[in-house]
Amino acid sequence: MRTLHSFGPEDTWALGAAIGRAAFPGTVVALQGELGAGKTVLAKGIGAGLAVTTRVQSPSFILVQAHLGGRLPFWHVDLYRVGDVSELEQLGLDELVEGDGVTVIEWAERLSEAMPPDHLQVHLEGEGNERAITIRGTGPRHRPLEEVDVC
Ligand SMILES: Nc1ncnc2c1ncn2[C@@H]1O[C@H](COP(=O)(O)OP(=O)(O)OP(=O)(O)O)[C@@H](O)[C@H]1O
Ligand SMILES: [Mg+2]
Repeated sequence: MRTLHSFGPEDTWALGAAIGRAAFPGTVVALQGELGAGKTVLAKGIGAGLAVTTRVQSPSFILVQAHLGGRLPFWHVDLYRVGDVSELEQLGLDELVEGDGVTVIEWAERLSEAMPPDHLQVHLEGEGNERAITIRGTGPRHRPLEEVDVC
């Protein structure tokens, strides 16, 4: 586990970009934190680190947005409005996380036990412009991502 301190959106974005550069096929990132914690800012950084060419936005009513122009397919998922498990089945999340892309899930706490056992947990909390960001690889494949170089 590693805790980083962010003093503004650009720091959070830079961490995302570092994760995006280090991501491998099958990377799954679970973003946790309150409304406005910076999950989408971090997802935008991951997209930049993967060199996607399409704009990463707050998915709002779209559960999953695909960005296919980068180094790896990037699936940006937002579970904020997901009601129940049947919606998740429709979403095909299992297929996404088992595939060769990079899946980034906002509000991942809504999935809890449905998450693949080996993933990267990113938890953001704080107020004003400051955030404490804790990253934890939950298994051997994702653990090296804790050591990414943030520049
Ligand atoms: N250190 C920081 N890191 C990230 N965002 C920050 C930071 N300081 C201020 N902010 C601001 O907080 C907001 C974070 O918004 P963002 O959409 O990324 O949150 P979110 O966690 O995705 O929220 P939601 O739950 O609504 O999806 C932005 O307006 C951003 O500018
Ligand atoms: Mg968001």
